[in-house]
Amino acid sequence: MDSIGPVGLWQKEGAPGCPQEGLPCSPDSSELIQASLLRSMEQALMGQASPAPAVRMLPTYVGSTPHGTEQGDFVVLELGATGASLRVLWVTLTGTEGHRIEPRSQEFLIPQEVMLGPGQQLFDFAARCLSEFLDAHPVDRQGLQLGFNFSFPCHQTGLDKSTLISWTKGFRCSGVEGQDVVQLLRDAIERQGACSIDVVAVVNDTVGTMMGCELGTAPCEVGLVVDTGTNACYMEEARHVAVLDEDRGRVCVSIEWGSFGDDGALGSVLTTFDRILDQESLNPGAQRFEKMIGGLYLGELVRQVLAHLAQHGVLFGGCTSRALLSRGGILLEHVAEMEDASAGTARVHTILRDLGLNPGASDAELVQHVCAAVCTRAAQLCAAALAAVLTRLQHSREQQTLQIAVATGGRVFEQHPRFLSVLQETVTLLAPECDVSFIPSVDGGGRGVAMVTAVAARLAAHRRLLEETLAPFRLNREQLAVVQAQMREAMVKGLQGEASSLRMLPTYVRATPDGSERGHFLALDLGGTNFRVLLVHVATEGVQITNQVYSIPECVARGSGQQLFDHIVDCIVDFQQKQGLSGQSLPLGFTFSFPCRQLGLDQGILLNWTKGFNASDCEGQDVVRLLREALKRRQAMELNVVAIVNDTVGTMMSCGYEDPRCEVGLIVGTGTNACYMEELRNVAGVAGDLGHMCINMEWGAFGDDGSLDTLSTCFDASVDQASINPGKQRFEKMISGMYLGEIVRHILLHLTSLGVLFRGQQTQSLQTRDIFKTKFLSEIESDSLALRQVRAILEDLGLPLTSDDTLMVLEVCQAVSQRAAQLCGAGVAAVVEKIRENRGLEELTVSVGVDGTLYKLHPHFSRLVAATVQELAPRCAVTFLQSEDGSGKGAALVTAVACRLANQTRV
Ligand code: BG6
Ligand code: GLC
Ligand code: GLC
Repeated sequence: MDSIGPVGLWQKEGAPGCPQEGLPCSPDSSELIQASLLRSMEQALMGQASPAPAVRMLPTYVGSTPHGTEQGDFVVLELGATGASLRVLWVTLTGTEGHRIEPRSQEFLIPQEVMLGPGQQLFDFAARCLSEFLDAHPVDRQGLQLGFNFSFPCHQTGLDKSTLISWTKGFRCSGVEGQDVVQLLRDAIERQGACSIDVVAVVNDTVGTMMGCELGTAPCEVGLVVDTGTNACYMEEARHVAVLDEDRGRVCVSIEWGSFGDDGALGSVLTTFDRILDQESLNPGAQRFEKMIGGLYLGELVRQVLAHLAQHGVLFGGCTSRALLSRGGILLEHVAEMEDASAGTARVHTILRDLGLNPGASDAELVQHVCAAVCTRAAQLCAAALAAVLTRLQHSREQQTLQIAVATGGRVFEQHPRFLSVLQETVTLLAPECDVSFIPSVDGGGRGVAMVTAVAARLAAHRRLLEETLAPFRLNREQLAVVQAQMREAMVKGLQGEASSLRMLPTYVRATPDGSERGHFLALDLGGTNFRVLLVHVATEGVQITNQVYSIPECVARGSGQQLFDHIVDCIVDFQQKQGLSGQSLPLGFTFSFPCRQLGLDQGILLNWTKGFNASDCEGQDVVRLLREALKRRQAMELNVVAIVNDTVGTMMSCGYEDPRCEVGLIVGTGTNACYMEELRNVAGVAGDLGHMCINMEWGAFGDDGSLDTLSTCFDASVDQASINPGKQRFEKMISGMYLGEIVRHILLHLTSLGVLFRGQQTQSLQTRDIFKTKFLSEIESDSLALRQVRAILEDLGLPLTSDDTLMVLEVCQAVSQRAAQLCGAGVAAVVEKIRENRGLEELTVSVGVDGTLYKLHPHFSRLVAATVQELAPRCAVTFLQSEDGSGKGAALVTAVACRLANQTRV
């Protein structure tokens, strides 16, 4: 009899002899299990696919242990932790440490047929229990927030999104595996129709146990449950979890160690009894480790051993009973009571008699021994697994020693006082460098679930505020079609010389190049990100360009006109010297990207500055004359300024040299604008009816008459007000690179003031104007960037990010740039439709030459523009050509055409 110690069950399956001849307890086995589980855990963390690791290591969306400041009232629905019972709790979090309010709770028994029936029936049952609970407890039923404690292996994709992988323990409802259990619960609550409850979080019992842990000296970073089943969770470094795209912080991982051994790793410790128990279970072959430890199985294991011993004449005089031979005949409660030696053997006798047995004098002691053996083995196995978790924590934190608190929960702990002591002793042996304190869970983990729910509720509220803030940026098809129609109307009025926010300026460019142009030309390109001086050689073999970028300091762009043009001349002189062109008077084309009223090709009156320019005494002046005067002042040689060209026109001409179908020019850079070839007969103010003329729309000013006001947000208004030209260029301010970052910054400021971002802390950097450059928007939205790289960019800007902030900032950027691209697309749609109708065509095939950093560098802008155009102008086949050479080349080509025509006239 002595040989059946607690160790008797460490017997290898199929080993000779019966259990009472079992092997002595082998610390080696514990160490092997510890090492093997640790290996599986690490393989799963690394994302090893094949062979599939024996444990799943499922990341939960819990990123930090409780702060202790969480507060509010929450309903918790518990399903799956404790056998066939479902619990509803009403938990109040006070937000003050040490001040606890006892939760109210009610337990419901789930009928066996519900546990094994259709999924809908189970969730309907849960919803009914919920409403029964709420009927019985007078609570405020409006806006109830529910935490769903669902203790089965799930793939979580959010705090409120969780797909059941497989049922474990005694459940096997159909149609639930592979489904989002939160949605199933929401649907059932809606079917029940009793009250409005928002399911805000779903939590595994281990996580609830960990999160509800009272704050002690050591951080509580492990949650251990031994209830019907068994499992643990712990705080892992996020960078070690391959499936997460995260390099900072920690995340709670549910190990799902119940399935450890499903790959055969437990072969050395499985007994015949384990094998039989597994075969007779609902899920043979699965959850092998759990079946040696979980409360659902301990009674069953004891029953198997007792039946075996009775059948071999060792117990009960060789007699058995119906209960002893039936599945579920002995329960965890029986084992717990019988094992308790302090209560003497009288109770054991009573229980055995209740089981229809007739125990002899020595039987009670032997039965107690069997119970102790089964439970001790369970505790030792559990300790080996916990030791693996502790070792993992040492590895991931690169710490030799570890001081840590483990929150424990579940009926096995509550009912078996010895379980914890065996567990503790074994853990001390297996992980001697770890100083572990065990803390029993509060309210069966309900408080922890409420904690997670509180966090989830806060995040959900933040998300709502984010959505509300961004809603005005999300334009639907109808709104875009209105923009298109308004643009079209403004175009017509502008062309006819009527009051319109679109000036529709004639450019005196009547034709695209025909290929016979030749020669060397100078070009200037002023008004985009860079100021450039170019030497363009148009030859039979094509166009060759040499150019140099010069900076225009802000003080010059906003100083006096004289200063600006003197600076331009200095740059030209410098360029000529460097290129060995001094003394040569080459024909010059001037790309000047501001609204000009042209009276001819070489005469342009600046109507007003746009973008960041504001040099004095230029508006109302002929820009070519200002340039010539500066040349004189600088005593530079005279230049033959042949043409002044808007950047849109330069771009159209440059792309038109390659593709004769290019009849539209589009810029989306610092500013935005478009030009296109209009029928001369439609252009009031230019003599002649035949042929075409390129019209510079100056669409940046679209909406300056108030027509865009319904779409304009308070953030647009703030950006406009802070600009150097309030009330002007309203369309441009919703689209172009100079302003998008500012719109984003204003939204971020607003969200911070609502406490949605940056923990509500306003920072100096976010107050800094223009901190968000177009470049950042493009980088942040790039698909190839991981979220952590996005965060690095934002942190470089000095923003105090939490992990939830990064995604929200990204969404803000997306909303702002998407609106910009769609508005731009609505504009292009208006233009191409007008060309099509002008020509009385059913279908138009046309190309658009495009330039500008936003269009070129933003990862999604061009696609969104094209999609919008296709949607709004389905009868036009539009190809977008990106200009590679800048519009200086186009200006040179305009100049070349003009020279050719002049030569022809002379001839
Ligand atoms: C350049 C053109 O490539 O693009 C300029 O050469 C134009 O003429 C500019 O103004 C527009 O883009 P951005 O982003 O520089 O304003
Ligand atoms: C089972 C479940 C697991 C749960 C454990 C304890 O193993 O799969 O999710 O944590 O039981 O209840
Ligand atoms: C501004 C200018 C316009 C230019 C555009 C793109 O809108 O007014 O002339 O084409 O920016 O650079």
